[in-house]
Amino acid sequence: MEVIICKDSREASIKAARLVEHQVRSKPRSVLGLATGATPLGLYGELVRMHREDALDFSKVTTFNLDEYLGLPPSDERSYRYFMYSNFFDKVNIPEENINIPDGMAEDVVRHCADYEYRIKRAGGIDIQILGIGVDGHIGFNEPSSSFTSRTRIKTLAPQTIKDNSRFFGGDESKVPEHVITMGIGTVMESRMCVLMAFGESKADAVSACVEGGISIVCPASVLQLHPNAKIIVDEAAAGKLKLADYYKWVYSKKPSWQVDI
Ligand code: PGA
Repeated sequence: MEVIICKDSREASIKAARLVEHQVRSKPRSVLGLATGATPLGLYGELVRMHREDALDFSKVTTFNLDEYLGLPPSDERSYRYFMYSNFFDKVNIPEENINIPDGMAEDVVRHCADYEYRIKRAGGIDIQILGIGVDGHIGFNEPSSSFTSRTRIKTLAPQTIKDNSRFFGGDESKVPEHVITMGIGTVMESRMCVLMAFGESKADAVSACVEGGISIVCPASVLQLHPNAKIIVDEAAAGKLKLADYYKWVYSKKPSWQVDI
């Protein structure tokens, strides 16, 4: 794991964007795994800026989103499809046919999930998977107790996640769908690089469990300790409970110049 502690979420978002930029410029046909939520908004903003001002070309890129609420049509502005188009896809040049988001209205969910896995494989696998983290340690919508070998499937949201996400549903927890489709932890772990971002004090416990806790399904993100190329990009507040914070900063400051400069 590489833990990168930034002074704020803006600096962190720019670093994550540079990783994606490097990936896309060096391999135009890159496959990106994308996330929703408040955390990656700055990353998408920076990628849109790079597209507009620095000619970052997404015309050959393929994307796979992590998850979607079951039962929300694409026109629903709380759906993750709607989120992705309004915050990113409508502003860059990824071909429509290259965009993959789990279908919350799928009639045959089991078949749809199997097909999603097949499409990831057929695309050559995910080069960079962007991840947020829930306060309960979830990645994607893989709540605590999710199997580390799980694949794309239906999941039931934890009460904590329903509470956290009710802010997007007018604060009404009863309006948050209880079921979702999410890539599995096994799916995420096959990505060639995982970039987990976390901002704010409310994520400090989850980040600590992810980076320095035991590897356990109690904190699904802790599985990233087993990933060969996982980067954890956090602000000072989210890093607040890391015992080895000074060490991570020291290591980052000594990063060899030949490594990708972010
Ligand atoms: P957030 O959600 O970015 O809105 O904090 C993260 C997550 O639940 O994975």
